[in-house]
Amino acid sequence: MINFLKDIFTYVILIFNDKTVVKADVNAGGEMKDKIKKILELKKEKGAAILAHYYVNDEVQEIADYVGDSYYLSEIAQRLDEKVIVMCGVFFMGESVKILNPEKTVLVPDENVDCPMAHMADIDKVKEVREKYEDVAVVCYVNSTAELKAASDICVTSANALKIVKKLPNKNIYFIPDEHLGRYVASQIPKKNFIFNNGCCYVHAAVTKEDVEKIKEKHPNTEILVHPECRKEIADMGDYVGSTSGILKYAEKSQKEEFMICTEVGIMYELKKNNPNKKFYSPAKEMICSNMKKIDLDKIIKVLETNEPQVHLDSKFIESANKSLEKMLELAK
Ligand code: 13P
Ligand code: SF4
Repeated sequence: MINFLKDIFTYVILIFNDKTVVKADVNAGGEMKDKIKKILELKKEKGAAILAHYYVNDEVQEIADYVGDSYYLSEIAQRLDEKVIVMCGVFFMGESVKILNPEKTVLVPDENVDCPMAHMADIDKVKEVREKYEDVAVVCYVNSTAELKAASDICVTSANALKIVKKLPNKNIYFIPDEHLGRYVASQIPKKNFIFNNGCCYVHAAVTKEDVEKIKEKHPNTEILVHPECRKEIADMGDYVGSTSGILKYAEKSQKEEFMICTEVGIMYELKKNNPNKKFYSPAKEMICSNMKKIDLDKIIKVLETNEPQVHLDSKFIESANKSLEKMLELAK
């Protein structure tokens, strides 16, 4: 662990637009140095850009050209000149990049890194709801398969769900697949009628009121920052509720010095980097997305060396899924 940290901190990686400049400490040694060097060489050779979600391992965030939340990642890929994108996140994130950029080669370091919630809605139920409510808008959280996106009217992320649903003219909203994000959005827009789906994220939904109370008791001055994938009772306790990028912005602006972060622990890397004098607590030990953590530097080297695995999509979903995502990007502006 000490060696790992030493290796990480002997590098200062400066990111200027699409160029990554690495200043290596000439005295630094170790495996990490070789792996980073290899990734940079391969990236240059292939003309690739590396994107990473805030929940992946620290060293992956460190070598990525662009790190962000789901919204940022789906949006940035369209603005890049690189024809090869390595998406370090769960599989649906690679799919979203491919749907929006079908001409680009989208590589995923591990194709088995899946998000269980992405599958937690049912196409037949979507059809049923459409028959029952004539004016319904099927709103699909991006944490979903390409098939679900294709069956929906519009996609949202946790960063823009509220803004987008408010803009929709429809009275009835069928929100899939995350029940908790759906309920949070519904609580902010009481005029609309929401139909919820029985899906959730096992990482966020596991946090209990008691977990939060325990930390608050120990650190009474802490502000509680909550991702809306958490259950309503946790969102109700929050001083702020928002996406990972929203939590990052809030913590940076706040005058407070202590924060309880009710989302996946990977975000701590960016939080601590940007706020070295502030303290951050996790409400529970289990706030770890085991899927995101499966991505490592070795897998990034391998995917760049072999050009595999790539994201290939069923052509019957691409067009409709693209419409749902493009509509999101349009309304999120
Ligand atoms: P955001 O990146 O939209 O905050 O979503 C969190 C998440 O669970 C991604 O898998
Ligand atoms: Fe899916 Fe939850 Fe992991 Fe996000 S944190 S990728 S929603 S399992």
